[in-house]
Amino acid sequence: MTRSTDDRLIARGGTVRGRVRMAGDKSISHRAVMLGALAEGETRITGFLAGEDCLATLAAFRRMGVTIEGPDAGGNVRVDGVGLRGLRAPDGPLDMGNSGTSMRLMAGLLAGQAFAATLTGDASLCNRPMGRVTEPLARMGAAVEAQGEGGRPPLRIRPAASLHGIHYRLPVASAQVKSALLLAGLYAEGETCVTEPAPTRDHTERMLAAFGYPVRRDGATVCVDGGGRLAATELAVPGDLSSAAFFLVAAAITPGAELTLEAVGTNPTRRGALDILQAMGADIREANPRTLGGEPVADLEVRGGSLRGIDIPPELVPLAIDEFPVLFVAAAAAEGRTVLREAAELRVKESDRIQVMADGLRALGVAAEPLDDGMVIDGGPLHGGRVEACGDHRVAMAFAVASLVADGPVEIGGAAAIRTSFPDFLEVANRAGLEVEPTTEGGGHD
Ligand code: S3P
Repeated sequence: MTRSTDDRLIARGGTVRGRVRMAGDKSISHRAVMLGALAEGETRITGFLAGEDCLATLAAFRRMGVTIEGPDAGGNVRVDGVGLRGLRAPDGPLDMGNSGTSMRLMAGLLAGQAFAATLTGDASLCNRPMGRVTEPLARMGAAVEAQGEGGRPPLRIRPAASLHGIHYRLPVASAQVKSALLLAGLYAEGETCVTEPAPTRDHTERMLAAFGYPVRRDGATVCVDGGGRLAATELAVPGDLSSAAFFLVAAAITPGAELTLEAVGTNPTRRGALDILQAMGADIREANPRTLGGEPVADLEVRGGSLRGIDIPPELVPLAIDEFPVLFVAAAAAEGRTVLREAAELRVKESDRIQVMADGLRALGVAAEPLDDGMVIDGGPLHGGRVEACGDHRVAMAFAVASLVADGPVEIGGAAAIRTSFPDFLEVANRAGLEVEPTTEGGGHD
C-alpha cells in the first residue's frame, strides 16, 4: 500500500539560516481560552496557537455554551466570558484528543461545576495516568471518577456537594496537576495551596493575576482563595519555546548556521532547554528581552558550532521537560557522553519518550542506552535510516532535526501528531533551510 500523508516524513538535512517566528505557546494558549471563558466580559487573545490540542480546549468551551470567535490566520481569538458560574452542561463527552494539558486542567475546572461532564481522548491520552489529578481533587471533595483501567481516562466528573480548599504537596513536579488544583480552588471554600518539589511552569499563576485574580506565592507554595472573579483582559501569547527548541538545536548542531527566532517566551520556569544547550556549548544570544502578555520574551540568535556532552543538572529537568526529545538529538550530535537522570516523567508523556527516542537514535547508529529514569548517549556519527515517532509530535520533529547531522535521509513514521502543537512545522522548517516533506509509505517518495 502507498499512502501520501503527513504521517510519514522524509528529512534530508539542509542548512539553517534566517529569521523565523514560532506560533504561540501551547501551554499559554490553553490557559488563555480557559480563563477567558471563566472571566466576566470579552477577552481578546492574539498569537493563539491553532494546534489540535488548543483547538480541543476551545471546542470544549464552545460545547459548554461559550461564544468564541476565531482563531483567524493571525491567531486572534475573541472569547465572550460567561463568568465562573456561567458554563452550561455539554451535550456529550468532551474529546480532548491527544492533549494531557486539556484533560488535566479541565478536570480541575469541571470539578467545581454544577453539572456532570465526561472527558475523553485518543488512545495515547487514554493511556496516561490521571490519578495524579483525581486523587487530590477527591480530597477537595470532588466527584471525579476515572473510568479506564488503573485510574486512566475517560474521566467522569459529577457535581460535588461542595469543594473545600486543601494544602497539597505535589509528589511529582507537574504544572498540569498544580494548575488543575488551582482551577478547582477557584470554586472551593477557603484556601487551596500547592507546594511543588521543584519549580514548574507558572503560566496559570501569571495568567490568573492578569485576569485580576489574587494569587499568593511563598517559596515553593502557591495559593488561591475560592469565590473571587476573573475580569476579562487582552492577552498576547509569546512564541512557544518548546517549538523553538527544535530550531535552537537545528542551528546549534549545524556548522555555519545562523538563525534568529523572534519573540520566544523565556519564562524562567520554561527555559531549561536554553540553559542545557548553553551548558553544552551552544552559541545562543537572547536579544531584545521584553515582556509580552505578562511573560518574558526575547529574540533568540543561534550560531552553529560544536556541542559537548554533559551530565544534565537534575534541577533543570522539570524546566525542560518537553524538550528532551530534541535535546537527545543535541546529545547525539555532541562530542562525548550526555547523561540524563531523574526524568522518569518522560515515560508517561505523549509516548514513552525514553524508549521511543532510544529506539530511534539506535536505528540511526547512535549509542543510546535507556535508563529507568533517563538516558546515556554517546555522541558520534549519525546515519540515515527509518525511525518511528509512535504518534508523538515532539519525537517526530526531533528526528527531522537529527537529519541535519545524519549521512543520509531520515524517514519518520507516525508523524501526523505534529499538528497537535506545531501545525506549520514543515513550512517553518523549510523556510529555515531544513529539507523535510511528506513521503509515501513504503520508502518511496512523492
Ligand atoms: C504542561 C505541563 C507539562 C508539560 C506539558 C504542558 C502545562 O506537563 O509536559 O506539555 O501546560 O501545564 P506535566 O505537568 O505533566 O509535567
